[in-house]
Amino acid sequence: MKSSITVTDNRTGKAYEFDILDGTRGPSVVNIGSFYAQTGLFTYDNGYTSTASCTSNITFIDGEKGELRYRGIEIEELAENRSYLEVCYLLLNEKLPSQEECALFDLELRHRSFLHEGLTNLFNSFPSGSHPMATLSAATAALSTFHFNHLDINDEAEYQTMARRIVAKMPTIAAFAYRHSIGAGFIQPDIDKSFTENFLYMMRAYPGGKMHRDLSGERTIKPIEIQALDTIFTLHADHEQNASTTAVRNIASTGAHPYVAISAGISALWGRAHGGANESVIKQLEMIGSVENVDAFIQRAKDPKDDFRLMGFGHRVYKNFDPRAKVLKGLQVQLQEELHLDSNLMQIARKIEEIALSDEYFISRKLYPNIDFYSGIILTALQIPTSMFTPIFVIGRTIGWISQWIEFKKGKGMKIARPRQLYLGK
Ligand code: ACO
Repeated sequence: MKSSITVTDNRTGKAYEFDILDGTRGPSVVNIGSFYAQTGLFTYDNGYTSTASCTSNITFIDGEKGELRYRGIEIEELAENRSYLEVCYLLLNEKLPSQEECALFDLELRHRSFLHEGLTNLFNSFPSGSHPMATLSAATAALSTFHFNHLDINDEAEYQTMARRIVAKMPTIAAFAYRHSIGAGFIQPDIDKSFTENFLYMMRAYPGGKMHRDLSGERTIKPIEIQALDTIFTLHADHEQNASTTAVRNIASTGAHPYVAISAGISALWGRAHGGANESVIKQLEMIGSVENVDAFIQRAKDPKDDFRLMGFGHRVYKNFDPRAKVLKGLQVQLQEELHLDSNLMQIARKIEEIALSDEYFISRKLYPNIDFYSGIILTALQIPTSMFTPIFVIGRTIGWISQWIEFKKGKGMKIARPRQLYLGK
């Protein structure tokens, strides 16, 4: 059997043949690289719904089954049994670390978490009250001015350093962006603390590194809080060729510095159709206000004349339950017993989920809750302010973006991203 597809131009009856390429998992692709040269036509695919833009070995999603794997390992297995740093190592090095490799990786990240004083000063130039995502994107681009080395993709040590540096510094940049937004002094990282604990510490601590006190004593960071946030980071670590990763790869294709590519990824992630949805979910639950109002909002979401959408529902790839959402749903139940989860918001969310999962509109369009539907309530319980929900996503995703950047640069025959258009103007 020939592994090709024949396309016939019905205007002329002329047939063209294109090769079919098979991957290791998922649908095969038609190689249309020569389509224009052969036919004189462009292909049109608004929103890339059927277009594979690259080859990749990093992350695999089966949207019909609701399956997600990093380097071949199922997300449920990683979320349950591995730390976020092990997952970072896996994405970057294509294998899980040994105990010693993991300990060294952890130490390196702790030491690299500090920011140059010049970069720290930059935060004070932004207006107070600025959204942390805007500051985060700007500060990440600015990081390239402090680490403007020539990045030789053939020098493993050089790009490993570049990747580890951005992963290590992102929690500090995010925490500083938040503290600046509320006019609080910066808390420097503490090398005695792990990656995830350090972030919570930089967010919550008072000057001198003291934690909040009440009559029962100091409110220290609980191990369950660290574990929950660590799992959230793992679930966000990569998600193949989504809008922000595509932005990172497109910038990589022009030869620009990797940190400005990550800055573009952050900007792309901010939108509410993408990572910004987690912030919108909580705002929407608060707007709905009580369980009695849920029906009216579901009706609005279904009304084609109303542009209201149920935030945290639907996904371009998942036409089944988002496996990350399943893990978070389990985490919500666990945390409910040990931390204060907003019971009113939980009730509203459960009601929305219950109605939507049994409603013809949502069933026929395969609209399931996505990761953002569950993450907000958990982040609220971890005392993360709403404006920091999407920056949390950034911290988790930085490893994915930089791994995809490296894969792109190491790839053979990669071209500058340059789509065509169907011109309809004068
Ligand atoms: N609420 C109500 N209806 C919806 C929703 C929703 N959340 N999402 C999709 N639909 C409907 C659309 O109106 C459309 O209906 P129609 O066929 O009658 O016109 C149909 O479902 C298909 O929707 P599209 O927008 O064409 O699907 P697409 O794959 O382009 O969009 C997206 C996916 C952007 C995620 C969309 O579902 C959405 O806007 N969801 C809400 C925002 C959100 O939660 N984003 C986070 C995604 S996960 C992530 O990025 C981390």
